[in-house]
Amino acid sequence: MKPIIFNNTVLRDGHQSLAATRMTTAQMLPVAPTLDGLGFGALETWGGATIDSCLRYLNENPFDRLDALKAASPRTPHMMLLRGQNIVQYTSFPDDVVEAFVRCSARHGMDVFRIFDALNDARNLRTAVRTVKASGKHAQGAICYTTSPVHTPEKLSALADELVEMGCDSICIKDMAGLLAPRITHDLVKAIKSRHTLPVIVHSHETAGLALASYMAAIDAGADAVDTSITPFANGTGQPDTVRMQAALAGHPRATVHDPRVLFGLRKYFEGVAEQLAKFMSPANDRVDSDALCYQVPGGMLSNFRTQLVEMKMADRFNEVMAEVPVVREALGWIPLVTPTSQIVGTQAMLNVKFGRWKNLAQASIDIALGKYGRPPGPINPEVLALARKQSGQEPVAGRPADLLAPRMPKLREELAAKGLPVTDENAVLFAMFPRETEAFYKPKPAAAGSSAAPAAKPAPAAGAPAAAAAPGKGARFALTVNDRRYEATVEVIN
Ligand code: CO
Repeated sequence: MKPIIFNNTVLRDGHQSLAATRMTTAQMLPVAPTLDGLGFGALETWGGATIDSCLRYLNENPFDRLDALKAASPRTPHMMLLRGQNIVQYTSFPDDVVEAFVRCSARHGMDVFRIFDALNDARNLRTAVRTVKASGKHAQGAICYTTSPVHTPEKLSALADELVEMGCDSICIKDMAGLLAPRITHDLVKAIKSRHTLPVIVHSHETAGLALASYMAAIDAGADAVDTSITPFANGTGQPDTVRMQAALAGHPRATVHDPRVLFGLRKYFEGVAEQLAKFMSPANDRVDSDALCYQVPGGMLSNFRTQLVEMKMADRFNEVMAEVPVVREALGWIPLVTPTSQIVGTQAMLNVKFGRWKNLAQASIDIALGKYGRPPGPINPEVLALARKQSGQEPVAGRPADLLAPRMPKLREELAAKGLPVTDENAVLFAMFPRETEAFYKPKPAAAGSSAAPAAKPAPAAGAPAAAAAPGKGARFALTVNDRRYEATVEVIN
């Protein structure tokens, strides 16, 4: 029996789920070589909300982060989360933008593309999968796991068949809200494994306290890999931590052991990072909460949601908004809750609580109702559909939504040139998704400690040697220059 493979998520989902995606490249780099040396199946380092967060909050060029992390951990395959036709945003993009994004990511060293569609509409994965394959990289098709009257095991494993037919190299059962129960995990893995030979990966969250047990069941059923993280960016709304998972597998014929001393050192290091990110970390995200089984809210959403409600001065209405989430979900055709649908449903739930149910329909809710994101798994509530038609003056979309979108890359290059921004495909795809943030990134910034002028995006990574070698002991300064951008961090040397 083959040992189970662990993918490590600490540099992406770990902090996205537990620290509102605020970990900086400088906080990652000191331990990137250590993570690289542990022999994980893959390091999830990019995609999901990290690209948005780099531009919006961290004043970082996301492609520079990828270059830096690749240079610092070259041995382990890097993995990213890609939202199919939504790329890493909330709306659909034309095929040429999706293709350019995948090609840029591949060129900057991304190895494994985990691709999903929030509605599990396979048509929304096709362009991304095709481009990943054409770039010579690994396409992992993901099935978003959710429970609803319209999500049967047969329907979910039929989606796996579609992904295999499309040319995916592996299949991920993506349980973004931690809803998978052990027996169901076992049966789903078995169902896919009995029909296909390609690797099956299970990704879950410990939100409701089920993930570790479900991983054990997945391993018994023949899954090839599971995703784990590192405390304190693990457990709770994040992935089970690697040490706990290893301990649970003691005596198991498929047990995997990564050096526990190194893992302990990493934990110590990340505890320091967590202290720096304390204001983005909520103790509520750390505890096991079976309410998640009712709300079906993914970890990243819970974490961001608490922050959002505080900003909107609605923190005291958390429970009301959460109770409204399943109502909105049913009305929008039982869509799974994963980015972007989790944000859409979350926002509509907030609006319903604030203004009264369906009194204020968000544009994105209208778009879901009209099929602009793809085919919802179940029927749209007739009242909501009527409102969506009336407010938009439009009829529902029949075919693949992206077929209605004209190519945009030539126009994006023109827009970049007109704004005096460097005209590269990297900037074009970032500008397509985050126009204001990308422009702001290139604006000269007042000199301040820790911030440097925006670097010009370069197509090829140019990793410099560490400017100062880390010395043993607490508080050693470490600096690395990549693409003219200098990353600095205080590190504790661990072994
Ligand atoms: Co996740």
